[in-house]
Amino acid sequence: FNENELKLIELNKQASEIFTHLLLNTDLSTNALKYLLEERHLSRETIADFQLGFLPSQWSLHDFFEEKKIPVETQLESGIISQYDDGSFHDVFSNRIMFPLKDSYGNIVGFSGRTLDKNNSVKYINSKETAVFKKSKLLYHFDVAKQAAKVSQKLLLLEGYLDVIAAHKAGIDYGIASMGTSLTKDQLQLISRNTPKLTIAYDGDSAGQSATWRAIEEIKNFPHLQLEIVTIPNQKDPDEYLQQNGPGALKKIFEEDSTSINDFAFEYLKKGRNLENVGNLSDYTNDLLNFLNEHPDPIANDLILKKLSDQ
Ligand code: CTP
Ligand code: MN
Ligand code: MN
Ligand code: MN
Ligand code: MN
Repeated sequence: FNENELKLIELNKQASEIFTHLLLNTDLSTNALKYLLEERHLSRETIADFQLGFLPSQWSLHDFFEEKKIPVETQLESGIISQYDDGSFHDVFSNRIMFPLKDSYGNIVGFSGRTLDKNNSVKYINSKETAVFKKSKLLYHFDVAKQAAKVSQKLLLLEGYLDVIAAHKAGIDYGIASMGTSLTKDQLQLISRNTPKLTIAYDGDSAGQSATWRAIEEIKNFPHLQLEIVTIPNQKDPDEYLQQNGPGALKKIFEEDSTSINDFAFEYLKKGRNLENVGNLSDYTNDLLNFLNEHPDPIANDLILKKLSDQ
């Protein structure tokens, strides 16, 4: 890191510490803390482990940075403070629950902030791209998960922050999140350098399943990475599944209910097709055979072809 990059990382660290302090120890965050404890069922310990925080709207991070004599250019460059056209300053993440985003070494390089307001159309906002924050090169929780992967020999790829935290509650620390974007080559490089095997468990809704399909396509460029898929039942995401069924049930589906990508294709390619219709069935069969052809797996494919003939 150069000097400027170190300044941004140091500023993020100070900001993160104050966000966590404000959340856990001040009356300004009563609603946010209540939301996390009672609606999301996080413990104070989990909040502290993941260094979650809150930036109360009555509070000014800009004033705090001014007191700390942090140059205003650094404040602006960090993307946490922004300036209106009239020159006045404001806190970008005001009234949001803060998730620190770290690089592979655990340095805080940016933030994501979640609204508490169900009617806010922007659920999460992220730091803008900076000298240290390149969203497409990061995976949430990777710094911890890559250590855990030395034992598990696999990583578990999830969609969101709270899904990684749900995995942690279920005793799994090798969870990572691609943070809603489609999986990039840089992210896949990080993954494939640190584990022989990747389990994808995106949200069970149709957006999550389409994202899984796109990820499978992208992973073609990493032939040495073994891939398996977990489909979360009933269109839920892992966090919702844990809330309904408990940590033991989530751990079980992560560890025991994975399928091959070929099995995933067998189900996924049915989407939007009525297999009673001869034209649809023929398109489906073509697409599936092409996929199986591109992904040779003698045992799985034999079983799938048998299932196909029963269709
Ligand atoms: N995301 C984002 N911006 C949004 C919506 C989503 O960056 N406006 C990213 C976040 O990293 C989020 C992930 O995409 O965690 C998955 O999105 P979604 O499934 O909608 O959110 P959840 O993680 O389920 O969030 P929550 O449980 O808090 O509703
Ligand atoms: Mn409850
Ligand atoms: Mn989703
Ligand atoms: Mn989700
Ligand atoms: Mn969720």
